[in-house]
Amino acid sequence: MSWRDGLTLDRNAGWQEVHVATASARPDGAGAWALWLTGRLLAGVRWLLMLVAGFVVLNPVVAAAALPAAWLYLADRPWWALAALLVTVAGFGAWFWLRADAFDARVTSPLRKWWRRRRYVRKWSNLMASSGLAVKTRRHQVLAPRLVWVRQGRYADVLRVRLPDGITAARFTERLPEITEALRAREARVLPARRWRLPAWLRARLPREFAPADTRPGTVFLRLAFGDPLVHVVTQPAPAEEIDLSAVTVGRRDDGQPWRVSLLGTHTLLAGATGSGKGSVLWSLIAALGPAIRSGLVHVVGLDPKGGMELGFGRELFRALVTMDGRDAEDQAVAFLEDLADEADRRASMLAGHARTLTPTVDMPFLLIVIDELASVTAFIADSKRRQRAEAALGRLLTKGRAPGMHVVGALQDPRKEVVKWRDLFPTRIALRLVEDSQVDMVLGDGARSRGARCEAIAETAPGVGYVVEDGSRAVTRVRAAYLTDDDIRQLARDYRPGPVLHAIDGGVA
Ligand SMILES: Nc1ncnc2c1ncn2[C@@H]1O[C@H](COP(=O)(O)OP(=O)(O)OP(=O)(O)O)[C@@H](O)[C@H]1O
Ligand SMILES: [Mg+2]
Repeated sequence: MSWRDGLTLDRNAGWQEVHVATASARPDGAGAWALWLTGRLLAGVRWLLMLVAGFVVLNPVVAAAALPAAWLYLADRPWWALAALLVTVAGFGAWFWLRADAFDARVTSPLRKWWRRRRYVRKWSNLMASSGLAVKTRRHQVLAPRLVWVRQGRYADVLRVRLPDGITAARFTERLPEITEALRAREARVLPARRWRLPAWLRARLPREFAPADTRPGTVFLRLAFGDPLVHVVTQPAPAEEIDLSAVTVGRRDDGQPWRVSLLGTHTLLAGATGSGKGSVLWSLIAALGPAIRSGLVHVVGLDPKGGMELGFGRELFRALVTMDGRDAEDQAVAFLEDLADEADRRASMLAGHARTLTPTVDMPFLLIVIDELASVTAFIADSKRRQRAEAALGRLLTKGRAPGMHVVGALQDPRKEVVKWRDLFPTRIALRLVEDSQVDMVLGDGARSRGARCEAIAETAPGVGYVVEDGSRAVTRVRAAYLTDDDIRQLARDYRPGPVLHAIDGGVA
């Protein structure tokens, strides 16, 4: 029996030998073997030549570096050419050794992009047909989704695909697993259509049927991700002295760009199972605001129901920190929320008739309110009267605090229904690793999981990784928060501790 045969069980005759078709059939006989081998060899050489050609021709940096050697060779100085080549290769080696990231960005990443483009073009029509996305017309013509253009990035490509009549975007989405495998991507998803960025005067004059929408009938935008810039721990860069509260950097997105969140006019709900890295999101947020905390333009107050285990490391950065220890823990939490809700009322009435949003000053700073476990001020308060008071105060704070410069970041370990009733009051939502897939839509909103937010599939070995729904669109983005060690947090507290007064919660929070 040879390697391409198999065995099958015949009910009457016991085991029988059968021929099994393998993916690549191989030849029988010496002559056929020689032919087959030569074919494979030629294919290999062609592949290598294409690789080298792509490397040199498509890469201006490599092309420029190869010029001296090529010139010397053409000038009939082969030894000098060889020496120049060796120097060039050594130079590239040193570059790779010293600055691997820059080397990848300028040399190997363009090559990978070119290789991916080749793969799209080579495989596209077969892939569409074999995935069942081709349709036959009345005249027996076969129509398949057409690749219109490809926009490439270092870690992800977006393919604009025009669908033939008879194929819907939903059907295309069902075939994403086949497409992911065939195009050797880490992940594939369909993005909502990009909104046009037209000047307002032109938009106003456009007929309504051309108004930009989230979907574009007959077209899908397929995003394919390759490699993963989030496998390594992300570090927080030193914050700029001028803080822009509408774009605070808290980590990295999976396209390699910084992950920025806006704190203005919104609150943030942060959900994640235990050990998913909620602490790193909270701390990278605080770290990014360092200079503004020191100058007094931002005040941070916190509630840490674990007795200060999470937020206690950087206690000096907080204007008030309630740690909920002792017998009156629930009263502390209620008083904390009621004080803040009163502050929201005060600010709202001061701003009324003057401005819609607050511009932070030292007298009226921006207030960042960090609650490490939201359930501990709602569902987990045992006494029903206290719970009602806490919930009323939280509701008031969330509805009134947005415009007058108060931002609540509420962390949540277990997004159960009774806690999720608060969800709609948190316009910004971040979901880290979750225990069940049903929790994803509970946190990020309906349909987020089917648009690519696989929070339940995040590995336990990747704390700080999660998904967010981008502002102003329904697109889901994979992110990783920057990580600050305990020592980093202590250093942060030393560098950015606010001015002289640190007063207790019952002395007011602002
Ligand atoms: N962004 C990150 N990058 C790398 N490692 C991280 C990151 N965030 C957290 N970790 C690691 O994972 C561990 C758990 O993180 P963390 O304590 O922040 O989880 P958590 O979600 O706050 O859990 P809990 O709900 O139990 O408080 C930390 O000890 C830390 O070592
Ligand atoms: Mg924690």
